[in-house]
Formats: sequence, C-alpha cells, structure tokens
Amino acid sequence: RLWIPVVSSPMDTVTEFDMATAMALHGGIGVVHRNMPVDNQVEIVKRVKEHPVVRLRPIYAEPIEPCSRVIDAMVSEGIREIPIVDGLGRVVGYAKLYRLREVCVSGTEPVEKVVESGMVVDVGGVEGARKAILRGEADAIAVVSRDGVYLGTLVLRDAIEETQPATDSDGRLLVAAAISPFDIDRAKKLDRYVDALVSDVAHFHNRNVLEAAKRLVKEVSKDFVAGNIGTYEAAIDTLSTVERVDGLRVGIGGGSICTTADVGGVYAPTLWAVASVRDALEELGVRIPIVADGGIRTSGDAVKALAAGASSVMLGYLLAGTDEASAPLIAIGDTLYKPYRGMASRGAMARRYAVDRYARTVKRVAEGVEGLVPYRGPVSRILKEFVEGIKAGLGYAGA
Ligand code: XMP
Repeated sequence: RLWIPVVSSPMDTVTEFDMATAMALHGGIGVVHRNMPVDNQVEIVKRVKEHPVVRLRPIYAEPIEPCSRVIDAMVSEGIREIPIVDGLGRVVGYAKLYRLREVCVSGTEPVEKVVESGMVVDVGGVEGARKAILRGEADAIAVVSRDGVYLGTLVLRDAIEETQPATDSDGRLLVAAAISPFDIDRAKKLDRYVDALVSDVAHFHNRNVLEAAKRLVKEVSKDFVAGNIGTYEAAIDTLSTVERVDGLRVGIGGGSICTTADVGGVYAPTLWAVASVRDALEELGVRIPIVADGGIRTSGDAVKALAAGASSVMLGYLLAGTDEASAPLIAIGDTLYKPYRGMASRGAMARRYAVDRYARTVKRVAEGVEGLVPYRGPVSRILKEFVEGIKAGLGYAGA
C-alpha cells in the first residue's frame, strides 16, 4: 500500500539508494534498476530496508578536516553541532560550533581538536532522536546501523517534516527491484529482501517472456509486477499464462527518452494502454493495480492515467533532474543539469549486464536516447507539487 500514487522508474539515471529511500519516505516506492551486478542491487535494497523512516543527510566532518571549512558548512546548514566520523564510518563524537570558533585561529586547525561526546542512536532510536531535536536538546544527531556504522545525520528540518512513509508490516521502508523474467537467479536473490519484483522488459507480450515469467513466479514469494504491456490482448494473455500477477506495468514507447515508436513503428501510448488493460481486467473480474509508465510530464497527465484506471504512475523524466536521481550534476555555463538516458540507449546498453531487455537479438539497435535534463533540486519539492496537483485534479473531477 502506497500513500502517494508515484513510482520511480528502474533506470540507471534515476533509481538507486537515494531515490528509492526518498520515494518510500514520501509514501511512494522506488524500483531499483538492474543495470548492475545482482550483488550491488541486493545491497541497495538491503540498505533501503535498513534505513529509518525519517530522512538522514550526509552531514558530518572528518577528524582532520580544517575548522574553517566545517564552520562554513555548519553555518550554511544552520546547526550548532556536527558529528565527527572517522574513515571506518565510526562516529567518534561531535564538534560544537562555539568551540570550533574558539580554536579556529589559522583556519586549518583540524576539527578533532574539539571532539566531545554526544547522542548517537541506531535505527531503533531514531524516534527518540527526533523528539530530542524537537525539544531543542540538539539540532543534529548521528544515526548508525545496528553494527555501529554511520548512516547519516538527523537534522531539525527533517525531524519536523510530516510525511507518511510507505512501510512494510515490520515498519521498514518499501522498496522494489527490477528483474528480467529470464533471470531467476537475480529474482531469487532479491526476493529475500524486496517488497516487489518488477518485470523490466520492453515487450512482455511475447511467448518466451510469458513462459519465463510463468516459471519465475513459482520460484519467488514477493509481489510480481508484470510488464511492460500495452494492449487488452496482452493483459488477457498475461493473466491467463502467468499464475500469479500482482500488478501490471503498462505503456510501450511513450517514455520521454523512447525511440521505439520511430525505430519499430510500434507504440502503445500510456493513456490508451491503461484504458485497454483496464477493460481487460474488468472483463476478467481481476482487481490488481496498473502502473501507468511513460510520458507522464505533469500532474495532469497522472490525473488522466488514474482516471483511465491506473493506481499509480511511474516517473523517469520528472524525477531525473533531482538531487536523489542516480546521475552526477553537470554545470554548463551557469546552468545545472543531470544526465538522463533511456535504458535501451547506446550508453545504457553498453553498461548492461543482464541480456534481455531490448538486447536479446543478435542485431542490436538503440531504442532510447541520452540527454540532459535541467537540475530541479530535492525530489521532495517535485513530489509535493505533483501530489497537490493530482489532488486538485481529482477535486475538479469529483473523485
Ligand atoms: P518518462 O517519460 O517518465 O518514461 O521519461 C520513463 C519510462 O520509459 C521507459 N523506458 C524506455 N522506453 N526505450 C524505450 O522505448 C528506452 O530506452 C527506455 N528506457 C526507459 C520505461 O518504461 C520508463 O519507466
């Protein structure tokens, strides 16, 4: 169960640890991409699961850092104490701003000169830390994993944030992972930790893929989201072939970076695809969620997708320019950008480890492009506006 109808795309310029964590903290879910070795994907999923249900930031100093730099950082963050973390990820204490100012004569004195003890909590103690911050006892508290490794710092602006995180029955953040129906090994390794396995093939309505998915669902226990499909017939064939389908990822060729429609002359535009799949589900009397995937550029697009029968929208482009997207920030002149590319673009295919999506045939042709999107700041800003827009749309429609 999600609290906002938003899912982040499994793309290598969108969803890794930061995006998946942020999505779940805001009540949605992230699908970790699979353009990496399975052990890395499992590691990311495990880290999301271990993350507390409040946002942490990498706000800390290293023992040998020069005091002037740390003072500047503290002033810009608006904090009076900062955790000091050593090279092994252990929190060795805190540096207080007033003490740093006292000892900082040349500006290069290391912060370790003023280390003192302070509150450090593990994941189970985060609620206590939040209360301590709200009572004004501290304004930055280090949070460590159960084995004592620094995870991040809780600061006031996150402690007061009232979001409704999407969590599992144990209160841990929800997270999904992309898989190929042919890669049972990967799916089984992820199955121990994720909440949902999301099929990540461009064309699910294909006999080989359907047969592979049929075998796969017998080997895994978590929710299985099939896709992508784009037609009424695809939904009927999927549900009659694959024994257990917990959701459908719907839309073909509609993504902002897709060239499938040009390359192959094939296109199942997302709104049309959602409506078609919805018809099939209604006819079969099956109630499973549809994820509308591709081409969502505004909250108004999401409203239309929901009206046509989707339960959530999957976003690539809209999230790609945010801090949490898994791509580096690039400056061109005075303007900031982030790279964003299709998973069937040349660059993404070159990084590909799994061998199915778009790339199973001997003749390889790119079905996606690579580009830059404008930098858009933290994902929280985008999501808040997006969700308010959806609410407004539903209000107009009387829903
Ligand atoms: P947006 O419009 O949000 O779409 O950027 C993201 C979705 O596009 C799909 N995707 C691709 N489709 N070639 C395609 O035809 C590609 O290279 C490609 N990469 C991603 C995917 O469904 C994603 O969620």
